[in-house]
Amino acid sequence: MKFVLNIFIVALLFASCSGNAEKKIIQASDSTKSCSAKPIKDPNNPKPMALMMRHMADNADSMKAELLRGENPDSVAFPFVRFYLVEPTDPSVLEPKFFENARLFQQAYNDFFRQKDHKKENFNAVIGKCINCHESYCNGPLKRIRKIVIDI
Ligand code: HEC
Repeated sequence: MKFVLNIFIVALLFASCSGNAEKKIIQASDSTKSCSAKPIKDPNNPKPMALMMRHMADNADSMKAELLRGENPDSVAFPFVRFYLVEPTDPSVLEPKFFENARLFQQAYNDFFRQKDHKKENFNAVIGKCINCHESYCNGPLKRIRKIVIDI
């Protein structure tokens, strides 16, 4: 019975990030590892956390572009998004380890804007925290997120 329950939880986890952006990523990738291979939720009706994540990924792309142009991303243009307060597709992700990952991500995010030097390195540290959480909770977008890392 416990085994069956575990399978169920794993299935839920894998279904946790279904969405259009996600689908595109999967189509564009040859990876078979994804969290929306079999979405159990309506992908056209994404939950607030999925929407915030898309916004965060777009912002991260913009921040990277600015850094590569030698500009300095402004914290006013890229405010921290408190994604951990809103409803996720799969509520079972809301466990202590998830919030700890969120805390470490927020810390790296704030450090990035606070520090004047090593902007690219600090930006990569932020993306590293995205990756850390996604290795535990939702590996579908990992390929896309890894591409945000700046080659130094
Ligand atoms: C603390 C954990 C955590 C952190 C940190 C995190 N994510 Fe996520 N991410 C998630 C979870 C959980 C989902 C699934 C959300 C849902 O489906 O409601 C998700 C979903 C996504 C998605 C798919 C959204 C969709 O279309 O369904 C993308 C893209 C994404 N994250 C990118 C990022 C990027 C880029 C960062 C860093 C800037 C980041 N994430 C940081 C946990 C995290």
